[in-house]
Amino acid sequence: MAALTDEIKAVFAKNKIFPVATASKKGIPNVAPIAFVQLVNDSTIWIGDNYMDKTLANVRENPHAAIHFWDPETKKCFQVKGDVAVHTSGENYEKMKKMIKAKNEAYPAKSLLVLSITEVFECTPGKTAGKKVL
Ligand SMILES: Cc1cc2nc3c(=O)[nH]c(=O)nc-3n(C[C@H](O)[C@H](O)[C@H](O)COP(=O)(O)O)c2cc1C
Repeated sequence: MAALTDEIKAVFAKNKIFPVATASKKGIPNVAPIAFVQLVNDSTIWIGDNYMDKTLANVRENPHAAIHFWDPETKKCFQVKGDVAVHTSGENYEKMKKMIKAKNEAYPAKSLLVLSITEVFECTPGKTAGKKVL
């Protein structure tokens, strides 16, 4: 598990839509724009599934995902990778469902993807690009 630093969390907070990348067991990649991406503690991100198709199928057979986020003012950019658990019931699922329904009752809130952060890399253009930070 890796714990995001205050600097990384500040960049995360600047983003509204996150590209969520997954891969099938065969290694076919997929990336989807997702708005319901919440940092619940320094090592855990909740991702709300309303309309996922390939993303959900991928994490069910290959439970890993990556996101990136950046700050257009400072140009700081980070890639976060982690292990994913899919919840369709239980306390955390119900909490996420409540948050999603509060935004729009019509959202189906099918499942909650819990991303446990394992690694963080820089994607800021320049000398440190691609380097592991956590
Ligand atoms: C701006 C934007 C925000 C979105 N936010 C979400 C979201 O929070 N949850 C979700 O399940 N789908 C969301 N979607 C829809 C998915 O990106 C879309 O259903 C995508 O095709 C998923 O399919 P896939 O899993 O096959 O890639 C969003 C789409 C856009 C354009």
